Amino acid sequence: MSRLVSRCVLAASIALAGASIASNLRAHGNVTPQAVNTTALPDIKPGNDTWIKVNPYRADPKVAAVAAKIGESAYGGNCARCHGLEAISGGIAPDLRYLDKGEAGDEWFIQRYQHGSVRDGKVYMPAMGDTLGQKAGWAIRTWLDTKHEE
Ligand code: HEC
Repeated sequence: MSRLVSRCVLAASIALAGASIASNLRAHGNVTPQAVNTTALPDIKPGNDTWIKVNPYRADPKVAAVAAKIGESAYGGNCARCHGLEAISGGIAPDLRYLDKGEAGDEWFIQRYQHGSVRDGKVYMPAMGDTLGQKAGWAIRTWLDTKHEE
């Protein structure tokens, strides 16, 4: 594909994504992101805006306990309406208890969290990275690991 054509395709899909976010907002009522207070968690190295691929809050049990608590509430405010209370899906979105546990599932988790899921211009899941931030993402991931099922 030429550069110009691929640019046009990109622009078109961004426009479509915008349109379906707008219709999503109307269909589902209030979808305002619920801010997450992550000040109790260590900053991410090398920086909170540099996205990493492995959960930095898992290794230290004390940090993991704080992260899981923050993650549980962040999940309730931002994910449960689609993925279900307590991470038990009612069927409209995947059941996150079955994500691969630990490092094996980290990269997939954080990439979906950061970018959401858009296919053919339709928003299946809104991007969360810019609105909630990376620290909240890893906190949610830490809590989800406690809910994991095979
Ligand atoms: C508006 C509904 C909606 C919200 C809100 C939402 N998701 Fe999703 N999520 C989905 C859908 C639908 C999919 C499946 C996407 C696909 O099929 O491409 C998905 C997929 C995922 C996946 C990949 C699951 C898998 O098995 O491959 C992860 C991880 C995920 N979401 C995490 C989250 C987290 C964490 C939050 C909250 C911060 C969240 N989602 C909020 C609808 C949502």
